[in-house]
Amino acid sequence: MKKVIIVGASSGIGYYLAKVYSQKGYEVGLTARRLEVLEALQKELPNKSFIRKMDVADAEASRNILADLVEDMGGMDILVLNAGIGDSKPSWQLEQQIIMVNIAGFTALGNWAVKYYAANGGGQIAGISSIASIRGTHIATVYSASKAYISSYMEGLQQRSNRKKQNITVTDIRPGFVATPMTQENKGMFWVAPPEKAANQIYTAIKNKKRVAYITRRWWIIAQLFKVIPDFLWLKG
Ligand SMILES: NC(=O)c1ccc[n+]([C@@H]2O[C@H](COP(=O)([O-])OP(=O)(O)OC[C@H]3O[C@@H](n4cnc5c(N)ncnc54)[C@H](OP(=O)(O)O)[C@@H]3O)[C@@H](O)[C@H]2O)c1
Repeated sequence: MKKVIIVGASSGIGYYLAKVYSQKGYEVGLTARRLEVLEALQKELPNKSFIRKMDVADAEASRNILADLVEDMGGMDILVLNAGIGDSKPSWQLEQQIIMVNIAGFTALGNWAVKYYAANGGGQIAGISSIASIRGTHIATVYSASKAYISSYMEGLQQRSNRKKQNITVTDIRPGFVATPMTQENKGMFWVAPPEKAANQIYTAIKNKKRVAYITRRWWIIAQLFKVIPDFLWLKG
């Protein structure tokens, strides 16, 4: 049975991804801060699962928890780094928390996974970035910067692993809008995907070892548009 670990599985995209993987016959390892939600989710899953309380803002502790979980599961084939938080009102406290979760936590676990795969014949890492990674935005300035960081980090990991022939595949998942607790207060959203649909498309992208995947697929069009809008227009906001 293949083994997947999902970091941030208590809500939204990660929650439905846990269900998809379990339904497809994977053994799943699930982490989040809200252990009680993971316990309830675990009861609904058709296949073997493992859960751990994890706050990715505590990078060192998270690396130890991941190591312990992988040992308990007897290995890891896929690591999905999904935990993330957003910013609507800029305050240093919130911006610092975004940096700790979306950047430092992501890197701490990605780094651990690369070392693990390098020593164990390879594997897959998928990180949930965002369409917001493509340009800086006034709506979620630190959030979009954090997603630009992880997309660039994942590209670098893939290049490094290719050079070292480590047999690691890194997939950069870039959702547009998905209806989850994170976006429930958002105004003016369009092409909003149900989380079940997003989870299914993410599963397929990882299975097909995509380098970059837009979720849902038509967000690729918006990504191309974002890339060609000239700075003088973009900066007007
Ligand atoms: N929804 C969208 O439209 C959208 C679009 C683009 C990208 N994304 C990205 O997709 C990912 C999932 O978002 P979502 O929309 O599903 O949001 P969500 O429903 O708020 O879920 C976020 C998940 O991350 C976990 N998490 C947050 N802070 C954590 C921490 N410090 N330690 C461990 N786990 C933590 C949460 O678990 P606990 O609270 O239990 O810890 C939860 O399981 C995020 O990276 C987000 O940036 C979402």
